[in-house]
Amino acid sequence: MDKFIINGGASLRGDVEISGAKNAILPIMAAVLLADGKSTLNNVPDLQDTRTMVRLLNMVGAKTDFNENSLTIDASTVDTFEAPYDLVKTMRASFYVMGPLLARFGEARVSLPGGCAWGPRPVDYHLKGFEKLGAEIILEDGYIIARAKKLKGGKIHFEIPSVGATGNIVMAAVLAEGTSQITNAAREPHIVQLCDVLNDMGAQIEGVGTHELTIHGVDSLNPIEVKIIPDMIEAGTFLMAGAILGNITVNNVSPDHLSIVLQKLEQAGCTIYVDDDTISIEKADNLEAVDMMTDVHPGFPTDLQAQWIALMSVASGSSVITDTIYHDRFSHVPELVRLGANISMENNVAIVRGVDKLRGAQVMSTDIRASASLVIAALMAEGKSTISRIYHIDRGYEKIEEKFKSLGADIQRECD
Ligand code: UD1
Repeated sequence: MDKFIINGGASLRGDVEISGAKNAILPIMAAVLLADGKSTLNNVPDLQDTRTMVRLLNMVGAKTDFNENSLTIDASTVDTFEAPYDLVKTMRASFYVMGPLLARFGEARVSLPGGCAWGPRPVDYHLKGFEKLGAEIILEDGYIIARAKKLKGGKIHFEIPSVGATGNIVMAAVLAEGTSQITNAAREPHIVQLCDVLNDMGAQIEGVGTHELTIHGVDSLNPIEVKIIPDMIEAGTFLMAGAILGNITVNNVSPDHLSIVLQKLEQAGCTIYVDDDTISIEKADNLEAVDMMTDVHPGFPTDLQAQWIALMSVASGSSVITDTIYHDRFSHVPELVRLGANISMENNVAIVRGVDKLRGAQVMSTDIRASASLVIAALMAEGKSTISRIYHIDRGYEKIEEKFKSLGADIQRECD
């Protein structure tokens, strides 16, 4: 298993290119299964999760070619409608194939994802949504089997604007007979891009970018060529490293997607310059503690909560950080404490008392974003840190150590 060896304290300076968004590419790879033909996706991040999704698409019979961040998917040969446990357990987003397979072929058998490092993460909204579209849902041997000769338009309301359920139900509803309505839908940038892509394929989705989607079903969709949006979470991660360690510019980003994050960084004392598709940050002379509460878009993303805690661990003063989306998503906290952070927990609230400096230690990655927070913390710490189980970070960050190295960080990948 690979690990990172990081000697902390180096200043960061320079430009970094941000990759395509993980949370956009995964549902879009599933969406192209809806069209009988070859689609081309560009600016595709080369991640472990992208490769897992490629394997899944191959398993259902699609032909793929992934080369230099460009991915072609020929969905005209799809003949199997199953996502096996071995893949779904390593990547929950595999569940995204359920909507397209059900809509186009009338049938899907997808392993129930189960829990994850940060809580139970149910899929009940997805399943209730498919039922509202007329599907029969059965649980058998740990697999969800969904069947419907032809889906029918329905009204679906989500208690919480779930990203995954919105994507899955939209992908099913686009080929349903009649009109569907989704209220309290997610409107994260990756869901907006998914809807835009579906509309370019011939779907009729109204209200894109709002919490209310109206979907007029069509008979079929066409293949597409699309460029994946920049990864706002990767950009946010680099900006948070820059907030304490230097003066860096992230290129190929959509600053609009990061408004609240930039506001928080400014409140903490950083200087930010925004251009069309670049953001530059100058580190704060004296980083101030700033409270933060995660929320659905345009709120502060839960996927940057761990990195914010890492940053706040060396701020002046105390901050209160609340995760309203995932109440258990704090597995990074004990690891940050090993690096010298002073953090106490009360339910879904972390109270971070800033310390003068962190000190290098051996720590362990527990999920994608938790690992990113450990990288930031180790880069800030005095001395050497070892971060094990970095396969988590490889799921969601493309060449992260090469990007940090090019900014001046002392970070090496080692194989056990
Ligand atoms: C997606 C992202 C993940 C991000 C999360 C929240 C992808 C591949 N992953 O995950 O990085 O952290 O959005 O922005 O895009 N819920 C239910 N029942 C359901 C579905 C969700 O109760 O059927 C709850 C969840 O437990 C959670 C909340 O809804 O409390 C939001 O989850 P959701 O938006 O669905 O997250 P994911 O799509 O799994």
